[in-house]
Amino acid sequence: MDVLRQARPQYGVIIHPESGKFLPVTDKTELEIGFGNGEFTVQYAMNNPETFLYGVEISQACVLRCARRAYGLENLRLINTDARYMLRELFPDESLQKIIMQFPCPWSKTSDAHKRVTAKDFSDGLAAVLKISGEFVMISDDETYSREVWNILGNHEALTAEDFTVNPQREITTKYERKWLEEGRNIYRVSFRKSRAFTVSRRVEGEMHIKIQRNVTQEDINALRNCEGKKDKSFWKFGRSFSDGKIFLLETLTSDDEFEQKFYIHIAPKDEGFLLRLDKTTLAFLTPAVRLALSNAAERLS
Ligand SMILES: C[S@@+](CC[C@H](N)C(=O)[O-])C[C@H]1O[C@@H](n2cnc3c(N)ncnc32)[C@H](O)[C@@H]1O
Repeated sequence: MDVLRQARPQYGVIIHPESGKFLPVTDKTELEIGFGNGEFTVQYAMNNPETFLYGVEISQACVLRCARRAYGLENLRLINTDARYMLRELFPDESLQKIIMQFPCPWSKTSDAHKRVTAKDFSDGLAAVLKISGEFVMISDDETYSREVWNILGNHEALTAEDFTVNPQREITTKYERKWLEEGRNIYRVSFRKSRAFTVSRRVEGEMHIKIQRNVTQEDINALRNCEGKKDKSFWKFGRSFSDGKIFLLETLTSDDEFEQKFYIHIAPKDEGFLLRLDKTTLAFLTPAVRLALSNAAERLS
């Protein structure tokens, strides 16, 4: 009982969105990307009870730490995923009043450039989900990255550069930020407003079932182990399998432009053949690589 009492509120703010479905928003919904341990996030949600705040963070450990801090908060929800790939999949066009990104990793290596908010995929998603007049604010201790964001996003067709301030006055600061400033270093605030309508295509879908018209045996499933495929920016690979003698679960890894997922394909008898679908115990989003993996498994079993 003690475990239940402690665990429920701790994890009450974490949600896992359904594949292919947008998250609900209020008139004043905001998003923080990469909230770290959530020191700012929780204080900001407390100071702004009329705001509904989502936080997206790629590190599961950070999500859990923030969830503990967020005990009892009604206006905050945390999602453990990659904002770069999932932003456009989680929110409809023109749904967010503000997007905040504080001290993002600058991804200084050229090979990591596609992870920066200046990468077209990321900035297009951001521009789509902001409301008209909605604001994107980035705080950084990296001058080069701040100037790059200022220049590149300032030239985005739907965004207007608004403010570049060195050492802005901030209502809420984090431990790392206070230490940085005490050492006499600078921080930079860059902000943009959405000035015109803009949209992007979505890549994640809701459901996919494939029927094959033949019997599937353990040997057929074993033959899939380590089979892999690649198309455009999508990659998939099959791994181990599990079976109760009737239903098979096939471990599958996918990557869509480095958005990685691990899940099971559920393969069960249906009418005269077998049906393949995503196993419901694994929380995968139906991305292009996941669809390709399902089709490829069905093809190899047919
Ligand atoms: C340098 S930390 C800053 C954390 C926090 N904003 C702060 O100011 O203390 C950057 C954070 O962004 C997260 N992050 C990096 N890439 C991300 C992505 N694509 N989607 C979501 N979070 C990401 C990292 O896990 C890390 O927690």
